[in-house]
Amino acid sequence: MSQFRLTRLLAEDATEAALRADVLGGLTAHPKTLPPKWFYDAHGSDLFEQITDLPEYYPTRAEREILLDRSDEIAAALPARTLVELGSGSSDKTRHLLSALTSLGTLETYVPVDVSESALAQAGKALVEEFPGLDVHALIADFTAEMALPDTPGPRLLAFLGGTIGNLLPAERAEFLASVRAMLSPGDALLLGTDLVKDEQTLVRAYDDAAGVTAAFNKNVLTVVNRELGADFDPAAFDHVALWDTEREWIEMRLRARSEQTVKIPALDLAVDFAAGEELRTEVSAKFRRDGVRTELAAAGLELSHWWTDAQGRFALSLSTAR
Ligand code: SAH
Ligand code: TRP
Repeated sequence: MSQFRLTRLLAEDATEAALRADVLGGLTAHPKTLPPKWFYDAHGSDLFEQITDLPEYYPTRAEREILLDRSDEIAAALPARTLVELGSGSSDKTRHLLSALTSLGTLETYVPVDVSESALAQAGKALVEEFPGLDVHALIADFTAEMALPDTPGPRLLAFLGGTIGNLLPAERAEFLASVRAMLSPGDALLLGTDLVKDEQTLVRAYDDAAGVTAAFNKNVLTVVNRELGADFDPAAFDHVALWDTEREWIEMRLRARSEQTVKIPALDLAVDFAAGEELRTEVSAKFRRDGVRTELAAAGLELSHWWTDAQGRFALSLSTAR
């Protein structure tokens, strides 16, 4: 019999305290910033799902193509008894991997980890029905913080899909990969999705779509701060901006104040002034090359063993083994 469990590792008040600290630090910094995990309340998770269907947003389709073509190979390379997935969201593409691992007969437990309780609850309930015999132990947790995984049997495969690793800054990425390595035992593996460097127009369009869904997603972070901290951001007073930074090879998402304005944040006893045209950085989405990925993995004690791309070479999935 399948079982679905949802465990909160993040205390609600810790989440609140972290949001306050991030907003205070970010909005008093120069330039102003806000960290990306606050995009994903229920509405934000929903908007992200809409992004994955946009004609301009190729990463989801490219990664799904790879998973569809290669899941059997992945399962053969790492016949996991436990699949852990960080930032699992809807777990939509993961189904190909779950299918391959359950057909092989090794998989017992799937551990999706996300900050979005709504996404975990929705995905988990559907998965136990689709995969009889699979235990789904969902964790509400922050993958950038220390995290104790449930004590499930190895070998373990840890998946981090969607190119979400690109949303971490380089130093955060190194720390993150080291903590991933610490969660694994020798012989366990990391399945990592990375979006690849490509022409600027394709990249910028993926983060600035014609229908304005990405703009709404970007501005949703302001709505979250309004709701949680009583702020009075007017989302319509900001423009969505997506820029390609050629040197750092990342897309930078910003919100640009359309006019001079002051935003009050009562919970922090703070008033934040924006000059006309001033930009708030909300997210980076780094794009990768094979050598860079291999080097970053190696620095964390992970050895690249497989590298798969979609037919058009837009996105890569890599498998690396804990030494
Ligand atoms: N893996 C899915 C979703 C990618 S969107 C896909 O490939 O389509 C990024 C996901 O990571 C969202 O579901 C978001 O809620 C989650 N997330 C973002 N920051 C997080 C953090 N610090 N800790 C845990 N989950 C996080
Ligand atoms: N992990 C996704 C990515 O970097 C997240 C994302 C897609 C995103 N579109 C966005 C984040 C727009 C902020 C704004 O591709």
